[in-house]
Amino acid sequence: MTRQIGSVVGGKDAPATTTYDSTNPAHITTVVARVGLADADTFAAACRTAKDAQKEWAKVPAPVRGRVIASIGRLVEENAETLAKLVTQEIGKPYAEALGEVREIVDTCDFFLGEGRRLYGQTVPSEMPDKNLFTFRNPIGVAAVITAGNFPVAVPSWYLIPALLCGNAVVWKPAEYAAASAHAFYQLIAASGLPEGVLNIVFADGKSTFEGLEKALNDGTVQKVGFTGSSEVGRKIGELTGRHLQSACLELGGKNPMVVMPDADLDLAVEGALFAGFGTAGQRCTSLGTVIVHEDVHDEFVRRFATAVKNARIGDPTEDVLAGPLLDQKFADRYEEFLTWIQPHHQVISGNIGRIAHTNPRHDFTGEDGLYYHPVVVDGVKPTDQLFLEETFGPIVGVTTFTTLDEAIELANLPGYGLSSSIYTTNPSSAFRFREGISAGMVSVNNSTSGAEAHLPFGGNGKSGNGSRQSGMWVLDQFTRWQAMNWDHSGRLQKAQMDVAEITPDLGFRL
Ligand code: UN1
Repeated sequence: MTRQIGSVVGGKDAPATTTYDSTNPAHITTVVARVGLADADTFAAACRTAKDAQKEWAKVPAPVRGRVIASIGRLVEENAETLAKLVTQEIGKPYAEALGEVREIVDTCDFFLGEGRRLYGQTVPSEMPDKNLFTFRNPIGVAAVITAGNFPVAVPSWYLIPALLCGNAVVWKPAEYAAASAHAFYQLIAASGLPEGVLNIVFADGKSTFEGLEKALNDGTVQKVGFTGSSEVGRKIGELTGRHLQSACLELGGKNPMVVMPDADLDLAVEGALFAGFGTAGQRCTSLGTVIVHEDVHDEFVRRFATAVKNARIGDPTEDVLAGPLLDQKFADRYEEFLTWIQPHHQVISGNIGRIAHTNPRHDFTGEDGLYYHPVVVDGVKPTDQLFLEETFGPIVGVTTFTTLDEAIELANLPGYGLSSSIYTTNPSSAFRFREGISAGMVSVNNSTSGAEAHLPFGGNGKSGNGSRQSGMWVLDQFTRWQAMNWDHSGRLQKAQMDVAEITPDLGFRL
């Protein structure tokens, strides 16, 4: 029987106005879940419910909230295989990667369960006697979190776990095409004993979500918006929240460069490029966009890269493959459009392109009824090409060349994103010069552009985001507001700046 799922607000099923079928991209005729989609009013109502629940949740001592986070981590760990299998089934992520994704939630919980016993404020010296200064981290209130489906559970956990730990309530709107995975994660969180209404899950299409969010912001029931998705939608969310004097936590697209220096270990660089370009079928926000390879090693790099890509296994994501199908039909359609950006001056060095089918097989694999695509490497990309300048979410990697490191850095920054980046070199000075010059929020040395660990700041600049950072201690600034407190126990009004004792120096003193 088909799984039926829908929104849950305040622990109760919330009404749906339409339905959406989330299908298995490896077998597009298989429905993984029938999803009830809510309207804008339900989204806004969920934010009101969250606002009411948040007051009590904030009163729960942070160490106790930390124990709830610990329980979520244990529940996820106990259910890891079931959850990972569902992720594989619903979005076609190879099982090993899906297990890694689930592990990333556990890592996030491990980090934040301890934060419940820290969430440090400071004691700060005052400029006056008998006066004490303090800082406290206060929860912000309600966070509305809108997430993509390429990481249907791990990336949401980067918002949900710290937001909850900090004493906030959340309304979470996952991607429809990854709804079953999101719903399963929601159920695991609910089993932790988190009070009803503190986390609410609402399934809705983009338009209703945006309208619902606008209503909630007008009602004053949302104090923070977290959004992972395209730069285009991120811009709209940024505009909307800006009008409400809020800054959203935006995790947007990337055109992530990999620079290969002439002194690089080329096999290592090829291995990194293969995983960065084609892991998750190139559908990570950290996926490799363009390899910027030194002209002296270009031919050799390209030869080895083309061979590695040709030999890589694409297929059933429950098996040991480099990549499975694309996430969903709309991603396949968009990817086909990216393929039209290939120009006559380009050379496709990876073999076939397009949908894998009987008429266009990959080795002996014919794609069955899945959204499988050939991985594509395009050499001869120029800095003015659309292929060089814009994100291409899917299995396509460009290659271009450079002469000097300064030129490589300039090329790496040119598209104006700034999420992840990578350099392959054996020279520490090149690595540090690259770090300094690159505009990306994340820099890998001799490592893939993707695969960030869950406790370093994650986020980008330029078209990749507004400078917000997730993960580790840095995300606390997204989900808390600093409150400064001063306490004067002198029994008199001591005026700051005016009643401060002065010690007079002899400024005329010379040696
Ligand atoms: C994303 O694609 O939105 O660094 C996040 C990585 C993963 C997260 C990717 N840990 O590739």
